[in-house]
Amino acid sequence: MQNKSRDIAKSVSGLDSVSTQKQDPFLTSYPAMVAAALVLTVAFVAALSTNAQSSPDFTVPPGAVYVNPLEYNVVGAEYTQWRNSSSVGGFNPTNTTPPFIQIFDPSFLEVTGSNATIRLIASHPGFAFAHEAPIYVPDLNVVFFSSNGGGTLGYSGWYNNSVVGMINMTEVDMALASTAGDVNVQVQTLNLSDTVQMVNGGTGPYKGNLLFATSGRALLPPSIVVVNPSSPYNTTVLLDNFYGRQFNSLNDIKVLPGTDIMFFTDPAYGWLNSFRPEPMLPSQVYRFDPATGQVRAVADQFVQPNGIAFTSDGATAFVTDTGMNSGKAGVNQTLPATIYQFDVDPVTQSFKNRRVFAYADSGIPDGIQLDMKGNVYSGCGDGIQVWNPDGTLIGKLFLNSTTAEMIFTKSGLVILHEETIHLANIQAQGIDLITY
Ligand SMILES: *[C@@H]1O[C@H](CO)[C@@H](O)[C@H](O)[C@H]1NC(C)=O
Ligand SMILES: *[C@@H]1O[C@H](CO)[C@@H](O)[C@H](O)[C@H]1NC(C)=O
Ligand SMILES: *[C@@H]1O[C@H](CO)[C@@H](O)[C@H](O)[C@H]1NC(C)=O
Ligand SMILES: *[C@@H]1O[C@H](CO)[C@@H](O)[C@H](O)[C@H]1NC(C)=O
Ligand SMILES: *[C@@H]1O[C@H](CO)[C@@H](O)[C@H](O)[C@H]1NC(C)=O
Ligand SMILES: *[C@@H]1O[C@H](CO)[C@@H](O)[C@H](O)[C@H]1NC(C)=O
Ligand SMILES: *[C@@H]1O[C@H](CO)[C@@H](O)[C@H](O)[C@H]1NC(C)=O
Ligand SMILES: *[C@@H]1O[C@H](CO)[C@@H](O)[C@H](O)[C@H]1NC(C)=O
Repeated sequence: MQNKSRDIAKSVSGLDSVSTQKQDPFLTSYPAMVAAALVLTVAFVAALSTNAQSSPDFTVPPGAVYVNPLEYNVVGAEYTQWRNSSSVGGFNPTNTTPPFIQIFDPSFLEVTGSNATIRLIASHPGFAFAHEAPIYVPDLNVVFFSSNGGGTLGYSGWYNNSVVGMINMTEVDMALASTAGDVNVQVQTLNLSDTVQMVNGGTGPYKGNLLFATSGRALLPPSIVVVNPSSPYNTTVLLDNFYGRQFNSLNDIKVLPGTDIMFFTDPAYGWLNSFRPEPMLPSQVYRFDPATGQVRAVADQFVQPNGIAFTSDGATAFVTDTGMNSGKAGVNQTLPATIYQFDVDPVTQSFKNRRVFAYADSGIPDGIQLDMKGNVYSGCGDGIQVWNPDGTLIGKLFLNSTTAEMIFTKSGLVILHEETIHLANIQAQGIDLITY
C-alpha cells in the first residue's frame, strides 16, 4: 500500500525530488509524507478526470491567477459563495490573497506583461484620501487626485470640502527600487481656492493645467475649473451654471481627442450623499466649448452617469452608469452598473447609437480609462476590471474592495483605492490625455 502510493506520487510529478531534498525532516514523519503524497495524487488525478481545462496552455505570471470561465460556468446548487450586489469583495474562486492579477483570457497577458506586480505606494488608514479625479502631469511626474466627497471616510459633506492631493512618482520609483515590498510615500495636500468645492473628476494636462469637474457643496455651485499644477496652484473657473441654473453635482470630465472641447457628467450624487440640494436637472452628459462658451446636453436616459472616456480617435464615447448605487440611500441591484458605448457624431459631437458595452459583476463601474490598444479599464467593487474592445472581460487587477479610479503613468497604472494607492507596473500604455 505504502509503496504503491509512493510510486504513483513519483510518476505524477517532482514529488520524489522534493522528498530527497527535504530528506532529514521527512525521515521522522514518513507516514505523514506518504499521506500527503496520496492526497496530492488523488487531487491531481481527480482534477485531470473532471476537468481537462485546469492547466492553462500559457505561462501564468508569478503572483497572477488564471480563472478559466469554463471552469466556473456551472457551480452547482451546493455552491456556498453566492454573490449579490451587497456582497463585499469580488469573485475570487481561487481565494487568492489580494492584491493579485486575475486572468480571464490569455490576451490579458498583453496588458500586464509577464512580470507585473501590484504594490502599495501610499496609505492613510481611516481617511479616504485617494478617491477620484486622477491627473498625471508627465513634465512633473506627479499624479493629482481628490479625496472622497461626501462618502465613507471622506470627512467631507455639506459643511466640509474634500481635498486635492498629489503624489510624486519620482519619489515612488525611488522608494520601490529600494525594496521588493510595499512603500508609503508622502502625499502632499494642495491649498486651493474656495471656488474649488468637492473635486470629483479630472483630466489633462489641459493647456498646461489640471482640468477638474467639481460637484459643488451646499449652495456653492458645481463647476469646471483649471488649476495651475505648480505653486501657487491658482485657479480659474470656466463654467459654473447652465444658463443660470446650477448643475446637480458634476462628476467626471474628458476632452474629446484632437479638440479642446470638454464633455462632463452630472449625476445626483451630491444630493444622494447629503452635500448638495435636490437635483433640478436630469442626470445627463454635457458638451462645453470654452472658446465660444456654448454648453449643451449630448446624452441622457441615464440613472446616474458617472465616468466618461473616448477612444483615441474620438469616434467612440463610453459613459458609465452607476445607478445601482444611490450613495447613502443604498443599493438597488436591478439598476445599472453598466458601461454604455456611443458613436460621437462627427459633425454635432452628440452621442448616438447607445449600446451596452459591459456590465460589471462587482459593485459599479466608476471611473474609466482606455489604453493604446483600445482596452477599457474601469474601477469597480473589486478593483480594476479590463475589457477588450469587443466588451469581453479579459482580466482584473484584483484588490477585493471598491476602487473608483486609475490613471496611467510612466511607472505603470496608479490605482486610487480610497485609503490606499497602489501601482501596477503593467506594460500597457494609456491613451494620450494631454490637450495642447
Ligand atoms: C447578499 O449577500 C450578502 C452576503 O453574501 C448576504 O448577507 C445578503 O443576505 C444577500 N442579500 C440578498 C438580498 O440576497
Ligand atoms: C475579500 O473581502 C471580504 C470582505 O472584506 C472578505 O470577507 C474576504 O475574506 C476577502 N477575500 C480575500 C481573499 O481576502
Ligand atoms: C521580474 O520581477 C522581479 C522582481 O521585480 C525581478 O527580480 C525579475 O528580474 C523580473 N524578471 C523579469 C523577467 O523581468
Ligand atoms: C468637518 O471637519 C471638521 C474639522 O476638520 C471635523 O471635526 C468634522 O468631523 C468634519 N465633519 C464631517 C461630517 O466629517
Ligand atoms: C519629486 O521628487 C523629486 C525627487 O525628490 C524632486 O526632485 C522633484 O522636485 C519632485 N517634484 C515635485 C513636483 O515636487
Ligand atoms: C499647503 O499649506 C500648508 C500649510 O500652510 C503647507 O504645509 C503645505 O506645504 C501646503 N501645500 C502645498 C502643496 O504647498
Ligand atoms: C495662474 O496665475 C498666472 C500668473 O498670473 C497666470 O498666468 C495663469 O494663467 C494662472 N493659471 C490659472 C490656472 O489660473
Ligand atoms: C429597484 O429599482 C427598480 C427599478 O427602478 C424598482 O422597480 C424597484 O422598486 C427598486 N427596488 C427598491 C427596493 O427600491
